[in-house]
Amino acid sequence: MKLLLLGSGGREHALAWKIAQSPKIEQLFIAPGNAGTAGVGQNVALKADDFEGIAQFVIDREVDMVVVGPEDPLVKGIYDYFKHHDLLKAIPVIGPSKAGAVLEGSKDFAKGFMQRHNIPTAAYATFDGEHVEEGCRFLETLQAPYVLKADGLCAGKGVLILSTLEEAQRELRDMLGGMFGNASSRVVIEEFLSGIECSVFVLTDGTHYKILPEAKDYKRIGEGDTGLNTGGMGSVSPVPFADKDWMKKVEDEIIRPTVEGLAAEGIDYKGFIFFGLINCGGQPKVIEYNCRMGDPETETVMLRLKSDIVELFEGVAEGNLDTRSVEFDPRAAVCVMCVSGGYPGSYEKGFPITGTDMDDSVVFHAGTSVEEGRLVTVGGRVIAVSSYGDTKEEALAKSMAGARKISFEKKYFRTDIGLDL
Ligand code: AMP
Ligand code: GLY
Repeated sequence: MKLLLLGSGGREHALAWKIAQSPKIEQLFIAPGNAGTAGVGQNVALKADDFEGIAQFVIDREVDMVVVGPEDPLVKGIYDYFKHHDLLKAIPVIGPSKAGAVLEGSKDFAKGFMQRHNIPTAAYATFDGEHVEEGCRFLETLQAPYVLKADGLCAGKGVLILSTLEEAQRELRDMLGGMFGNASSRVVIEEFLSGIECSVFVLTDGTHYKILPEAKDYKRIGEGDTGLNTGGMGSVSPVPFADKDWMKKVEDEIIRPTVEGLAAEGIDYKGFIFFGLINCGGQPKVIEYNCRMGDPETETVMLRLKSDIVELFEGVAEGNLDTRSVEFDPRAAVCVMCVSGGYPGSYEKGFPITGTDMDDSVVFHAGTSVEEGRLVTVGGRVIAVSSYGDTKEEALAKSMAGARKISFEKKYFRTDIGLDL
């Protein structure tokens, strides 16, 4: 089979690495990919949201399946574009329809969906620009801290957690006044939940689903979860508190009602669902849905998925995912992300990278490129180093040794991934 994977980050390199291991793959293309994906497949110079360019490529090269890494093409409707294109409607796209991607694209929709299907989540109310004063009064009925979420996609910046009522009311006015443009024309105000987070992933064909290994990501830049939020500084899988009993609650109260709810609402959903969960004293609750895999969770989840992922994608496409098996590697996996100094604030790019060859770890490129024959940094998150271990401590030690070996100017990484668990 010829498979085209869309995207260019560490998540996509990890997916490409896993896809390339399948004996079913004759050719793997990645659009646009990065310097790492070029080592496991063939990069194609097309943006992930250039639907016409992608369509032409799929037709010309007789691609059999398209797998979508990031949310952007899904929210823009790539699934529907293929479905309504005479020459492409038979080509499976692994990723939900535009209506399904709204689970990630609109926080208000996601909250309403959870309420309709009785899925445990924080209490909430949504306000638009015409109801600013009602929003401020609603905040007065809540306890600190206050959680404000822009309804639309804001590249991970749309959630504010404020410690005083005054700040929360001021931020609410700013958000509804256009702080995040159209994305914050509506704002969800939520009850604050305290607990440890965990990311759970499923692949669904719209009727059946398979649960993939869970993971926890580390969003803050600093050791001990301090400092600014980033795209993710590392991940660990498995998550110790996500034991059999906890995962049974997740499946019964969250996963099954979500998949059944999507079907009941007539939403075409064939792809990954990412459940951003929080463990509130043993009770899992949903913080957010995403319509794709997590990054950097994929960089550990793919290590622990033993089954052929292409076989699972075929199950999604054919609607018989229930006949496919999913096996997990019992070992732990830890990913340590090497980032550019200054990130998530401003940082320099174009630094040469060396030391990426290693035996004990798997290296996934995130923000790299080859310029004039040299591997260089082109992003904030540069390279993820993932390793197996009999324990998470052993996996972390290997990934840290790998992260130390990688060399580029102003490199930074966290040394405490997984140690809080
Ligand atoms: P989201 O974009 O919805 O995942 O929110 C970003 C982050 O904000 C989450 O990963 C949580 O750490 C935090 N967060 C979001 N909603 C809540 C909530 N209701 N209570 C506590 N923390 C939250
Ligand atoms: N790791 C969180 C995300 O991918 O959104």
